[in-house]
Amino acid sequence: MKTIAANACRIVLALTFIFSGYVKASDPLGTQYKIHDYLEALGLAAYAPDWLTLCSSIALSAVEFSLGIFMLFAIRRRATSAAMLLFMMAMTAITVWIAIADPVSDCGCFGDAVILTNMQTLAKNIVLLACAATVYAWPLRMYRFISRPAQWIAINYTILFSLASSIVSLYLLPPFDFRPYHIGADLLKGMEIPADAPQPQFTTTFVLEKNGERKEFTLDDYPDSTWTFVDSKTVQTSEGYVPPIHDFSIQLEDGTDATDNILTHKGYTFLLISPHLETADDSNFGDIDRIYEYAKQHDIPFYCLTASTGKAIQHWQDITGAEYPFANTDETTLKTVIRSNPGLLMLRGPVIVGKWSHNALPDISDPDVSPDKLQSLHDNTRPASQKVLLVILWFILPLTMLTLADRTWAWTKWIRRKRVKPQQHIKHLKTKNNMRKKIVAGNWKMNMNLQEGIALAKELNDTLTAEKPNCGVIICTPFIHLASVAQFLNQDVVALGAENCADKEKGAFTGEVSAEMVKSTGAQYVILGHSERREYYNETPEILKEKVLLALKNGLKVIFCIGESKEEREANKQNEVVKAELEGSVFNLTAEEFANIVIAYEPIWAIGTGLTATAEQAEDIHAYIRSVVAEKYGQEVADNTSILYGGSCKASNAPELFAKPDIDGGLIGGASLKAADFKGIIDAWK
Ligand code: PGA
Repeated sequence: MKTIAANACRIVLALTFIFSGYVKASDPLGTQYKIHDYLEALGLAAYAPDWLTLCSSIALSAVEFSLGIFMLFAIRRRATSAAMLLFMMAMTAITVWIAIADPVSDCGCFGDAVILTNMQTLAKNIVLLACAATVYAWPLRMYRFISRPAQWIAINYTILFSLASSIVSLYLLPPFDFRPYHIGADLLKGMEIPADAPQPQFTTTFVLEKNGERKEFTLDDYPDSTWTFVDSKTVQTSEGYVPPIHDFSIQLEDGTDATDNILTHKGYTFLLISPHLETADDSNFGDIDRIYEYAKQHDIPFYCLTASTGKAIQHWQDITGAEYPFANTDETTLKTVIRSNPGLLMLRGPVIVGKWSHNALPDISDPDVSPDKLQSLHDNTRPASQKVLLVILWFILPLTMLTLADRTWAWTKWIRRKRVKPQQHIKHLKTKNNMRKKIVAGNWKMNMNLQEGIALAKELNDTLTAEKPNCGVIICTPFIHLASVAQFLNQDVVALGAENCADKEKGAFTGEVSAEMVKSTGAQYVILGHSERREYYNETPEILKEKVLLALKNGLKVIFCIGESKEEREANKQNEVVKAELEGSVFNLTAEEFANIVIAYEPIWAIGTGLTATAEQAEDIHAYIRSVVAEKYGQEVADNTSILYGGSCKASNAPELFAKPDIDGGLIGGASLKAADFKGIIDAWK
């Protein structure tokens, strides 16, 4: 159930965020205007310069789009789901505010593509917040499509694609135009109100007085003339039908309304649109002037529509030499008409037939080119289906190819591994002049409940199966995890071990777990002699000797821990201590039995303290331990014995430690509780 819930919610979030991120990225100016509306409602617009709101718009779309893609591909599952939850919490808080205070008429979540009422937005965000919380609760249950190394390619490509979409849309025009002023739109039709359209509704209340008492009445219960009229109020109760284009009007400089004249003109008309001449980009004024000359030559009316006033117009004329007439139109309308300041619109009658950003104005190097030809030169000639295809080709196709390549690679690797016999596999882990096995073992201690433990083990198993480690990897878990984890662990890649076993074979030892039981779960290793067990559970060398014998008897390999305390190190007694620990519990074994022992040197003062033995200190004592083993069992056995270092070992110090000739890997506590940290240590063998 949890897996189904997490994956279903992940798909809902992914698709919504990809859509909302992309529509925003493809219309950065539209999103900027929306941000500005919000800031205005908060009284903060004056503090946010245009460049800041534009950067925020681009960043917002990149964040949304990337979060959507990361969710879809289950990239960095924990971080992505946490970021998603934070994002949805912030967005839901904003929508609660807009639902109550009504500062903007629509939230702008999906640009102009889907317009929602404030209440619909709130409902949508509550659903998305619930999805985000579900995914956050079980992030590791999301199925992954690509392995970790390939994730970086997807992350970079996604961010790059989103930023590139924003920049292209800013430079040209939004590739998808959802506004009522798109190419092909008939402005007069857009202004029409159908005869049967709902009319706006008004209610009037009257305040009347009689014998000093004041009361409110409506037309329906208007009282007799014994009441004296005091006041009346009329309020609009419903808006009625609002046509898509309801605020488009053109006022000439002399104050006359030229809207009808222009829209009913039979031929072509050019409208240069600049909501704000003060902030308009004047770099392409030469091209604009050439189009004006062309318009004059072909008797095409040309107006510059702006919301700016006399002074700004004068300034624009001074710097660009503009000779065309100016007319006044509402600023918001002009911003809706075209996402370019300035931008050029070409009308045939009332129909928009061409739309150009000032950066890509139509080429009229041949002044005799016919206006019919010119209208077909706008940026948006491609039908929407082709544009969708382009997005697929530029973004979805490369990512799909990456996924397929990654999965094929993982599959062939898995097949190759299946063909390698276990012995060959172990051999592979040994270096040429050093035949012993390199190992990184995790000791979870008393951490992780069953679900968390399974999730961590699964994550490690997936990661390490996809990307074969250069060493043996073992995870030693609490007893209760063993059987469940053994079910899915590929023990050729990640072997399983327990953290302890009983010193008795079987019987009335309430609460104990025998070596045989451990073995029956599928585990192959057991940690014995850990300093925490020696100290807190009074495990003596004799008890440990029994445990080691029982473990070996039941076919378990033993990770046997030794190490000195701080006081012993200060008294320079470390060599003595480790030798005595070996003699006390494992030197009774035959050489054959001893081949199943991995030694873990763990200075007690370094365990969980953040203090690490220096690589030199560790190497000294590892070499000493090897010499003691050699003394007892001969050089060959000593050379084949893996001696691990433990105690605050982490990804940052592992490479230096593991580089030492007698350090064959690590026994890792704290840093084995997160897959990424543990993997970082495993990677030290690369
Ligand atoms: P640590 O523990 O890595 O958290 O120091 C090591 C151990 O006790 O095995």
